[in-house]
Amino acid sequence: MTEAPWSTDLHWPAELTPFDPFDTDIQRDPYAHYAWLRDHAPVIRAGQREAPLYIVSRFDDVTDTLRNARDFSSVPRRDIVIPGFLLNSDPPDHTRLRQSASRAFSPRAIAAAETVIARLITERWQPILAAGGGEVIGSFASPLTISVIATVLGIPVSQSETMRDWTTAIIDYVGMLFRGVPSATANDSALKAMLAYINAVFDDVDVEQGETVVANLARLRDEGVLSAEEAAGFACQLFMAGHETTTLLTGNCLDFLSVNPDIFESLRAPDTIPKFIDEMVRYRPPVHRLTRYTTCEVIIAGCSIPAGSSVRLLIASANRDPTKFSDPDRFDPKRKNASHAGFGYGIHMCIGSWLAKLEVRLMLETLVNTTATLEPEPRWPRQPLAGGAFATVGLHSLGLKVTSI
Ligand code: HEM
Repeated sequence: MTEAPWSTDLHWPAELTPFDPFDTDIQRDPYAHYAWLRDHAPVIRAGQREAPLYIVSRFDDVTDTLRNARDFSSVPRRDIVIPGFLLNSDPPDHTRLRQSASRAFSPRAIAAAETVIARLITERWQPILAAGGGEVIGSFASPLTISVIATVLGIPVSQSETMRDWTTAIIDYVGMLFRGVPSATANDSALKAMLAYINAVFDDVDVEQGETVVANLARLRDEGVLSAEEAAGFACQLFMAGHETTTLLTGNCLDFLSVNPDIFESLRAPDTIPKFIDEMVRYRPPVHRLTRYTTCEVIIAGCSIPAGSSVRLLIASANRDPTKFSDPDRFDPKRKNASHAGFGYGIHMCIGSWLAKLEVRLMLETLVNTTATLEPEPRWPRQPLAGGAFATVGLHSLGLKVTSI
């Protein structure tokens, strides 16, 4: 058993700077770093000497850790847990919340919204097609995703832009709490406003009618299965967790297809789209790393990690591990082994992957039915997102030239 080496003490090849998870240049294209880490130093320390971050890069180590919720907690600090936030809870709270949440966020509730989602996609893609192209992240993927989540939740789409602004402010607020910024609690107004709004929607909803998530949550609250805070907090987290991630996946698909016209053509064949989406989440996952906190001393890849440490699990690196995926740097939409870590692993595995896949599938179906060609349009810069909220990686803006069928 050894101590994990510090990133800055390692003998990195000349073309790579020492790995730092907060370095935005590395975040934009981290795959060469990930490959070197998997080969040479599967557990390293980075960050401040007095409070190191342990970075884990191999598939088996990442997924074994995600499956071990006893030794690896998802609760950063007990005093700042927001009720109903599944992502930041441990069993037994997590088990109870997740069971009720799964009842509310059911495939039936999502399926009920499918026709509306397809219409929203057509409405938003048609103007881009008519104009011969445009910027497709801020003016297509992001507003589409927000209206889809609002529709599935059962919240008026007209309110979704405000909800998006609240979630941006809440992410900043939660980040400040986690970093221990003393003035953080003064910045909770967006969280209060969003919870108050969701509670007002709960009060108005007819729980006997319709299969929306909000109606289901209001029913669970009225039955006493969830507290009022938990029900509102869960709805709030669904909105936050599903928006940026799905926007980035949509952008990654469009970006990739615009420079791989042969793969775009191949999606016109039946049953090709679901496998394309799964491979995209493996190959270019919107979330690159997950965080856990050790509840006791643990050993990963022969390195000891003390209790109370913060462990960063590089799921995007796990997805390129050659011991798990053959020729991992090749995008292969016919790949047989699809059990990647892009939606997480273990008890916290993404509850919304169904919705994300449905939305992107419907979007790609609309494209192949209406669009002859997609190409990069240099008039709009292709800008990467830097330091996204959930360790997210993807595009902030992307210009495309398109032609109709
Ligand atoms: C491409 C889109 C998406 C990606 C890549 C993604 C990724 C992930 C990942 C990696 C986790 C695990 C977090 C952890 O273990 O700490 C997660 C959890 C979660 N996701 Fe997603 N997600 C996506 C879409 C969505 C959508 C659309 C929703 C809901 C509207 C959603 C809701 C959640 C929730 C509530 C959790 C927490 C589950 C738990 O802690 O038990 N996600 N997601």
